[in-house]
Amino acid sequence: MKGVVLHGGLGTRLRPLTYAGPKQLIPVANKPISQYVVEDLRDSGIKEIAIIVGETFPELVKQHYRDGSHLGVKISYVYQEKPLGIAHAVGLCKDFVGDEDFVVYLGDNLLQRGIKKYVEDFKSSDADAMILLKEVDDPRRFGVAEFDEKGNLVRLVEKPKKPPSKYAVIGIYMFKPIIFDAIATLKPSWRGEYEITDAIQTLIDWGRKVEYRIIDGWWFDTGKKDDVLQVNAVILDERIDRRVEGRIENSRIDGRVMVDRDAEIINSHIRGPAIIGAGAKIIDSYVGPYTSIGNGVYLTNSSIEYSIVMDNAYIEGVNRISDSLIGRNAKILKSDDNKPFIRFSVSDFSEIQL
Ligand code: DAU
Repeated sequence: MKGVVLHGGLGTRLRPLTYAGPKQLIPVANKPISQYVVEDLRDSGIKEIAIIVGETFPELVKQHYRDGSHLGVKISYVYQEKPLGIAHAVGLCKDFVGDEDFVVYLGDNLLQRGIKKYVEDFKSSDADAMILLKEVDDPRRFGVAEFDEKGNLVRLVEKPKKPPSKYAVIGIYMFKPIIFDAIATLKPSWRGEYEITDAIQTLIDWGRKVEYRIIDGWWFDTGKKDDVLQVNAVILDERIDRRVEGRIENSRIDGRVMVDRDAEIINSHIRGPAIIGAGAKIIDSYVGPYTSIGNGVYLTNSSIEYSIVMDNAYIEGVNRISDSLIGRNAKILKSDDNKPFIRFSVSDFSEIQL
């Protein structure tokens, strides 16, 4: 089986961070979201992967994944000029897929227990497609499944105002190449996109076999800031063990904290679960639970919790930071000139809550 990872799209709901890179490269627990996806495919035995890149900094995606060998996979790239929809993106992979079965994995979706058992299920079934579903409180944000009284899947609707069930379609799909024939018949939806839900619906309408599985464990679609922070917290909670490297001086480190090489923690208190990246400097500060501090970050005289601070950001003299996403090389500091005003140099679509 082959894998297709969607890494395009505009990521408008994650501006301004998506002015500096694609949303799928936003780090959680100091690793890009889409790397969890690539590793999940690899751990499910899928080593040949096409990454679909779009207009938003495709070169950064290539820089990170290169040919994939450092992650134990073989990666090639497919360029999607405009984000015309998930089905459009998948359609571009016809040559890559050839006559093999394949998994499509949206680069911003994360599953607690991974896809391995569903991949095995699909391999041993004769289905033309398999989708994964999860019961959610507000299905209107997603593709939604409708069943008949026997529990057969009869219809998929994209972001319905009146959802026919509470079962959202997860952004992970398994297909036989017949899906390309279905994609070729599609027309753009009301939102102007070639919808993957419509392509699967076409298979159902053709009488093809479309199976579903209801997943257990958590699933996140990291489309917004709060989702990213929540995934960060959950991954830190579940996957970070205590490992302290670097220089620790006159500091307290409680619980499951990972401190990477060459980091320096001086006169500070770190309370896990948390991760401190390579070469970061934490001085006279408090880092509270559910915080990821990137490589080369400088944090002094400050306190922070439930946040992500990306590589090389600089924070000085700022207390009680919480629920924050702070981009690479960002600077937040308390001025020492006692002027009765505050100064900003903020990019488009930034958000500051004082
Ligand atoms: O996350 C699950 C949901 O994903 C499903 O329930 C929906 O049925 C499905 O349509 C999709 O909805 P979203 O609105 O969340 O899709 P989004 O536009 O965020 O795109 C999902 C991923 O695919 C994202 O990583 C960007 C990428 N993408 C998207 C489009 C439209 C592309 O690479 N190319 C595209 O043209």
